Amino acid sequence: MRFASFVVAVVAILSPLTLAQATNYSDMPPVLLGASWYPEQWPESQWDTDLSRMEAAHIHVVRVGEFAWSTMEPTEGQYNFDWLEHAIDLAAKHHICVVLGTPTAGPPAWLTEKYLETLRVDENGMRDEHGNRQQFSFADAKYRELAHDIAERMAERFGHNPNVVGWQLDNEYANPSFDPEAKAQFHAWLKKKYRTIDNLNYQWATAYWSQTYNDFDQIPVREDNENPALLLDWKRFVSDTWKSYSENQISAIRPHADPRQFITTNTMGWFDGFDEYTVHSVLDIAAWDDYIDSDHYDYIDNGARHDLTRGFKQKNFWVMETEPAFVDWRSTNTPLLKGQVRDMAWQAIGHGADTVEYWQWRANRNGQEQYHGVLVGIDGNPAPVYSEVQQVGAEFDKTGAALEGTSPHSEVAVIQSYDSRWAIEFQQHSAKFDPVKELLAFYKPLREQSQAVDIVSPDARLDRYKVVVAPALNMLPQAMADHLIAYVKQGGHLVLGPRTGLKDEYSALNPQRQPGPLVNLLGGSVTQFYALDYDVPVSGAEGSGTANIWAETLEATNPETKVLMRYGASNGWLDGQPAVLEREVGEGTITYVGAWLDPELMNKLTATWLERAGVKPIVANVPDGVEVCERTGDGKTVLILINHNTTPAQVTLPGEMTDLLHGGSAASVDLEKYGVAVLEK
Ligand code: GLA
Repeated sequence: MRFASFVVAVVAILSPLTLAQATNYSDMPPVLLGASWYPEQWPESQWDTDLSRMEAAHIHVVRVGEFAWSTMEPTEGQYNFDWLEHAIDLAAKHHICVVLGTPTAGPPAWLTEKYLETLRVDENGMRDEHGNRQQFSFADAKYRELAHDIAERMAERFGHNPNVVGWQLDNEYANPSFDPEAKAQFHAWLKKKYRTIDNLNYQWATAYWSQTYNDFDQIPVREDNENPALLLDWKRFVSDTWKSYSENQISAIRPHADPRQFITTNTMGWFDGFDEYTVHSVLDIAAWDDYIDSDHYDYIDNGARHDLTRGFKQKNFWVMETEPAFVDWRSTNTPLLKGQVRDMAWQAIGHGADTVEYWQWRANRNGQEQYHGVLVGIDGNPAPVYSEVQQVGAEFDKTGAALEGTSPHSEVAVIQSYDSRWAIEFQQHSAKFDPVKELLAFYKPLREQSQAVDIVSPDARLDRYKVVVAPALNMLPQAMADHLIAYVKQGGHLVLGPRTGLKDEYSALNPQRQPGPLVNLLGGSVTQFYALDYDVPVSGAEGSGTANIWAETLEATNPETKVLMRYGASNGWLDGQPAVLEREVGEGTITYVGAWLDPELMNKLTATWLERAGVKPIVANVPDGVEVCERTGDGKTVLILINHNTTPAQVTLPGEMTDLLHGGSAASVDLEKYGVAVLEK
């Protein structure tokens, strides 16, 4: 191997494990507090006051520009970037660096008026009118040309600005378009994949309901109520199209940008409109917008979404937006409780974020989001949450040196597959079977007991994990099965959840029944699945409890395969049938859990899986509701403890540690309600 290609190979192997420190600029702090700032909405005379208040809150980064197209290019071909340059320069004077957003989520009126074809078309053929935002077609060639142009002009001007540390493409990619161009591209995509229409007809089994096609152009484009093979390929096409949408802008920015400037986009947690792993294959780091999923902060769900985002690039990430106490888009926009904003900020760092940015800095004078939480009000004076965020900023500054070069490391992985989530969503069979909730049913006890879990794509490297759990890997083609078989054979402990292995990569049923190409390794299979709306008793050596929502009857066909749990008396079909199978394979094991089990039983089973694999908690005997996060690297170990409870808690540490927030050292810490401790070994 020539040296150059050896270096490339080594970098490719190492890169998933390397860190994305907050910025690649050594003069910027390693952990950054930030906010979304919209200088285009304010007279320049007010910027300095805003930036001074940011500086006083220890804000070191602002995201700017992502909705400012009409200010950057007020009419076609007339560019105005002077204001942006002034804003960036003034921010630098306040020691605040900038992430520039390309403004393509908000096309200006002149654009959509002149180029009607750039407007998005919905599934029912309705073309968007100008207004609101995100009204563009992600596939339209003209839109891409215009997006490329504005991104390139920004990069020419700011690609070497030392105060611009990175780029955010667009904003929260979301809806596909069903315009004629997108449909034609989908047909071409299918043709490239299947080569002949006969092959597509075979893989999709189109004899069903007379769906046989004579030509690719006849294929309808739908998001639901269709052949699941078609729906799946549409989602994959949408993923590839968002990827090429990104590449279009990357090709405009990269040639003009300092290599230290990263390129990313901001994602939305569990959102599965497309495959984030596909889109992230062309991005430098992952970044997400952390808004709590329900009316109240569920720290397990929120932590899992951090872990999901970390898994997109398998390295540290950014929180590009988070809520300063409340948002404006829920039915009742209740605030986080006092103290929880700080709690959430530290949870982000604990799970591997290197930056936490609030949306937004200052209340808009007008526009759709006047009620949203902010750090300063319309008058530019601090909102009540400002002082809590200021405290966070001071703490980030204090702990940055210790956190530099560190990241979370896990011995346990949970596999998350968009193909499988879509396959289940297309044919839920039980309205209560939400693949994310089912993933969380496995994740929660794993996280609580091991205190560190990676959420990864099915093709991630697995040999570094002691336990790998695939909650509902519904789509399990042979190549993916081979990857899992190799993991078990080298001594890994693999746990499969219900609905695993039903389908192949074309969404066709696997001929072996579940778990498809893992039937031989397991030495058993699923004889039948059942949707449930009542509790079914389940018991075995590890304990007893109940199943609900989903239960599969299993059958062991290999004498080495053990039945670990059985269903009790219920609907007749399940009575006495195996519910959990397990087989030892050399040093490794494969376990199949055929039902959605209650949390207590999941706790017990999880304890046996972790114990067998030698996975221990980072800190033992921690009170319920206290979260333990560990970041290691560069010879350092930093513990972040967060008390999510409304009552105080005490934690005994594994040994004497330095208290980075309060100074001194201690072997135990007292945490007040929503209290945080940051400790170094
Ligand atoms: C999203 C968007 C922001 C803003 C916030 C409000 O995350 O990216 O522009 O609208 O929501 O919560």
